Amino acid sequence: MENKTNVQPERKPVIFSAIQPSGSITLGNYLGALKNWIALQDGYNAIYALADLHTITVRQDPTTFRKNTYDAYALLLAMGIDLEKSIFFIQSQVPEHAQLAWVLNCYTQFGELSRMTQFKDKSQKHADNVNAGLFTYPSLMAADILLYQADLVPVGVDQKQHLELTRNIAERFNMLYSPTFTVPDGYILKNGAKIMSLQDPSKKMSKSDQNANACVHLLDKPDDIIRKFKRAVTDSEACVRYGEGKDGINNLMEIYGCITGKDNAAIEREFEGKGYGEFKLAVGEAVVDHLRPIQEEYTRLIQDKAYLESCFAENAAKASRIASKTLAKVMKKVGFLPMKRS
Ligand code: TRP
Repeated sequence: MENKTNVQPERKPVIFSAIQPSGSITLGNYLGALKNWIALQDGYNAIYALADLHTITVRQDPTTFRKNTYDAYALLLAMGIDLEKSIFFIQSQVPEHAQLAWVLNCYTQFGELSRMTQFKDKSQKHADNVNAGLFTYPSLMAADILLYQADLVPVGVDQKQHLELTRNIAERFNMLYSPTFTVPDGYILKNGAKIMSLQDPSKKMSKSDQNANACVHLLDKPDDIIRKFKRAVTDSEACVRYGEGKDGINNLMEIYGCITGKDNAAIEREFEGKGYGEFKLAVGEAVVDHLRPIQEEYTRLIQDKAYLESCFAENAAKASRIASKTLAKVMKKVGFLPMKRS
């Protein structure tokens, strides 16, 4: 009998994102992006990476770099990346990234790369090491995304220009040859908070901040976290209220809201008539309580190097199976000879 049902297997959209293991992960990274990575795992076919090839565009101490990579991987697992649902791999362990990046470099214009504001900023900041990798960073990022035919890429505002360039490269290649790459859309994070420095709330919270009290790291000890919140810069109004000219309080409300799920009105009610001291302590304690299970799971995982390494291997293999298909198509279209090894 004829079978008329023609049910397509459900194809969830592919989401790709990456973070550099360039230092210890901050509360800003977590609330701004990583917390959403966890939430997106159910609705999407999620592929996540540690972009360690990008990290060496700024000089790294090898021992620290290795430690940061292990730490970041363990910490992201501890946060809730679920390897049953998602792929989470280390970029340098999937050679297709470097290979496609080279090809894409030849389809990316000097002028385009010169206009990237991150390149301009970073070459000022690291004036003694304006290397070619720093310049071609966006074509490696394009390779990361395009290898997986990603539909969506969650990125913060600082990476929007790179994503735009990725779209242009993909469209250009598709036009020159034939449809090869999915042209990805940016996924602007709904709950993607922008967390500011605790010491200068007009600046983004940054792991490279000179002032140790400006930035909370996810692996900070509870006492240190509380101390940093107690010293957070606020204003002289002494009223927990969201408003203009109250960047410090706004930022603390943002953090508290992200952690507790409360909106600003609820937070204002909760702290009505209470001083900043009490509020700052409450925010610090909420952060400590939220991070405790993550820190505990991290501590367990980081001691189990054999398990972590088995995850690296398995996930690099899964990623490579997808990436190698895209790369093979690209190589063929460009006109490279098929590679056969005897
Ligand atoms: N450049 C990104 C950052 O520093 C990290 C990154 C590398 C990335 N490749 C990516 C982000 C691909 C999204 C998609 O934040």
